[in-house]
Amino acid sequence: MAITRRVFLASSAATAAIVTNEWMAPRSAGAQSKVLNLYTARHYGSDTKIYEGFFNKTKIKINLVEATADKLVERIKSEGRNSPADVIMTVDAGNLYRAQEDGVFQSIDSQVLKAAIPENLRDSGGRWYGFTKRTRVIMYNKEKFDQDKAYAAKVNGIKTYEDLGKDDLGLKILVRSSSNIYNQSLMGSIIETYDEAAAEKWAKGLVRNLARKPEGGDTPQLQALAAGQGDLAISNTYYLLRLEKSSKPEDREVAKKIGVIFPNQKKNANGDAKLGRGAHMNISGAGVAKYAPNKDAAIQYLEYLATPEVQKMFADNNNEYPAFQKPTDFDEDLMRAETLGKRNQLAIQVMDRAGWK
Ligand SMILES: [Fe+2]
Repeated sequence: MAITRRVFLASSAATAAIVTNEWMAPRSAGAQSKVLNLYTARHYGSDTKIYEGFFNKTKIKINLVEATADKLVERIKSEGRNSPADVIMTVDAGNLYRAQEDGVFQSIDSQVLKAAIPENLRDSGGRWYGFTKRTRVIMYNKEKFDQDKAYAAKVNGIKTYEDLGKDDLGLKILVRSSSNIYNQSLMGSIIETYDEAAAEKWAKGLVRNLARKPEGGDTPQLQALAAGQGDLAISNTYYLLRLEKSSKPEDREVAKKIGVIFPNQKKNANGDAKLGRGAHMNISGAGVAKYAPNKDAAIQYLEYLATPEVQKMFADNNNEYPAFQKPTDFDEDLMRAETLGKRNQLAIQVMDRAGWK
């Protein structure tokens, strides 16, 4: 198996590079083997096994176009009716919803997909489907927890996202910028659960409790938490698992110091459905492109991704959860993924008004 990697530089700016990574089918497939053009914002080398499995099953070769969600959508729009894109894949319901609003998907009515993917993790219009889910949680410094009783008592009091907005929290929070889609989706879930005014009040409280001006991705928040630069961090769980499994000893040291709080668990909610709604969930998902030249192959690919074994492989590659599987160790928020998309614009406005940089 050979992988060739080509880099196209957009004429406007050198930074707008789009990498095309072509997975070559074995020679025995012959020159007439069918193809599938996969535009993806996922970039885990281990996903190659999934492409290989698809080829073995269908003899359809996958051509990869890799870029960020925004760049993929931009490219597809500029390609118009001649776009070779068959499947568009990205992370976060907010991104999928934006792509949907940009009209780059077509609606697919597949009984296989409907049966395999829980209703809340797919678009009600059949334009995109979630194949893995991830959760965004609260993390604390385990080392400090063991040494500092006052800190431990405060951390034990943190049960919900709502707690992070309290005036008397007494703990400093590390979180990335509001320009990040994960935070926008979390904000969207707060707006949906309560209302705009309550959500804004929460965001203002959270901003007052920040340890520092938001900077960097989720991993730098965890590094800062381990270094004692803050008391709590908001992060997706897979970033911690990535550090845990890292080949670098310094990453594993960071991971060792960090503990996880799954927020809004039923057992802590005294019967309050909102407080007990579960930890915030998001997805990584895909849909068939509007002008897909290989539509049948595209549907076949999505149905292949939806099989439990492939969902599991796909999830494992990034330490996520397969869409079909209910987490066993925590309660998950079953809010519809598309709701996070619908609330995205308002979430951005609310964060802006709250001064979340
Ligand atoms: Fe991520």
